[in-house]
Amino acid sequence: MPIPAESNTAIPVHPDFPNLVVVDHPFIQIKLTEAREKGTPHWRFCTIVHEIASLMLYECTRDWPTEGRVIETPLEEMEGAQAAQFLTLVPILRAGLGMVRGMVDLMPEARVGHVGLFRDHESLEPVEYYKRFPRNMGDGRILLLDPMLATGGSAVAAVNVIKEECGRGGREVDIRMVCLVASPEGVARMGEAHGDVPIYAAALDRELNEVGYILPGLGDAGDRIFGTEV
Ligand code: PRP
Ligand code: URA
Repeated sequence: MPIPAESNTAIPVHPDFPNLVVVDHPFIQIKLTEAREKGTPHWRFCTIVHEIASLMLYECTRDWPTEGRVIETPLEEMEGAQAAQFLTLVPILRAGLGMVRGMVDLMPEARVGHVGLFRDHESLEPVEYYKRFPRNMGDGRILLLDPMLATGGSAVAAVNVIKEECGRGGREVDIRMVCLVASPEGVARMGEAHGDVPIYAAALDRELNEVGYILPGLGDAGDRIFGTEV
């Protein structure tokens, strides 16, 4: 069953893409601008990605289910709230790893699964090399993390792997994707392949170039996070 993106956020869905929410909070836009600048060093880039990931988590968990929890304040008893669902973060290796710490800072009880994929430089198709998931992650919410949604090949493949892992027997799984920069091509491809997966992006950029990089983009996110630019 598709999860309507608008039910998860106060921000309207994108007028051209019903599966996309652009989280346009000014703090995020200011930080993203610094990340995009080519002179930003990798250690600063890394910090910004953590910070944006925290802010994005805040937005895409607005509809997080809670249940009552009775506590004693120093003055009287009251009913507060506690989480009624658990969260699994699934970064796409490598670059998605850069988003984990910022989210775990906000929600330390989140578990973390991993999908290893890289884009073949010639075909631009994803190649899977690793997967490891917490048990029963399909019982809670899953956030798929990758700073870049370019052709969409990696994101589609990662959702395939997650659904195969936890959606056996036709069970529906609550998966949402969080990225920093998305391309129109990637959002459309995800919508066609996995229309039930809302995408939360800090920006929807203009287009892909001839080698599959997002324009204006921010370059190779993995290289910039880990300092492996040549
Ligand atoms: C980058 C990025 C995404 C993918 C996006 O990873 O982090 O996973 O490309 O491109 P797509 O939407 O066209 O599939 P990359 O393959 O460079 O691997 P890395 O994270 O190990 O650097
Ligand atoms: N992967 C990246 O890291 N950056 C892009 O622009 C496209 C794919």
